[in-house]
Amino acid sequence: MKVTLADGTAIEYQDAGRGPPIVLLHAFPLAHAMWRPQIEVLGRSHRVIAPDQRGFGGSGGFRDAPSMNRMADDVADLLDALLVAEPVVLGGLSMGGYVALAFARRHPERLRALILADTRAEADTDEAKANRERLIALAERHGAAGVIEQMMPKMVGDETRSQRPEVIEEIRKMATAQTTEGVCNALRAMRDRPDSTPFLGAVKVPTLVLVGTEDTLTPPANAEAIGRGIAGARLAMVPGAGHISNLEKPADFSRAVDEFLRSLA
Ligand code: MLT
Repeated sequence: MKVTLADGTAIEYQDAGRGPPIVLLHAFPLAHAMWRPQIEVLGRSHRVIAPDQRGFGGSGGFRDAPSMNRMADDVADLLDALLVAEPVVLGGLSMGGYVALAFARRHPERLRALILADTRAEADTDEAKANRERLIALAERHGAAGVIEQMMPKMVGDETRSQRPEVIEEIRKMATAQTTEGVCNALRAMRDRPDSTPFLGAVKVPTLVLVGTEDTLTPPANAEAIGRGIAGARLAMVPGAGHISNLEKPADFSRAVDEFLRSLA
């Protein structure tokens, strides 16, 4: 489905199921389709809204300087466009988690609960910023395909690599469909995002922090740091999963989210 936001940008999204609303924000450089397993399971009890974030999938790109704040405001604008006035559960994986934290800062009144998966609160280090520059240069030469080949060794865990090569293919297919412009702008937005650590104490909604035990991009230590920062946050490990834990271990991931959602009811 497609909707046009107030600034004229078209946003592609999936809207499935009925019940309290939950919005799911995808990782870089993927699209809403990465939530396929969770849309199926959570859609039995919830209205699941999964957008392609600005510059990805079928959605339009940035009109101004790329930022996580703009992507967070897009979520609020999307909810307005869909006439969702009640507070939502907002879940994001990795880049989606950065956007979810920006949303929590900018639109706290619209938040019922937070799910932060395989992500971190900290800003990029100088080394990480330099790596963003290298990836932007790589994308300009070889497109999204070049970027995903570089990232793939860290996207999934050993168990997925050895036992579920189809998951790697699904990630590769989704990533290579992205445009160079969308990938480069998201890299700039992630490079420039602020440190959310000082803000964690201000999060007052129930929060679930999830992480694959084999995640090396945003390892369990990052999840534990978020858990320490947000009062009452629950921490759930996804055994045998790497960074894209929701696709690597869909049943374990969905079960943890489902339990959390039930605890809110
Ligand atoms: C992601 O999965 O969204 C990215 O790995 C996040 C990042 O590069 O910081």
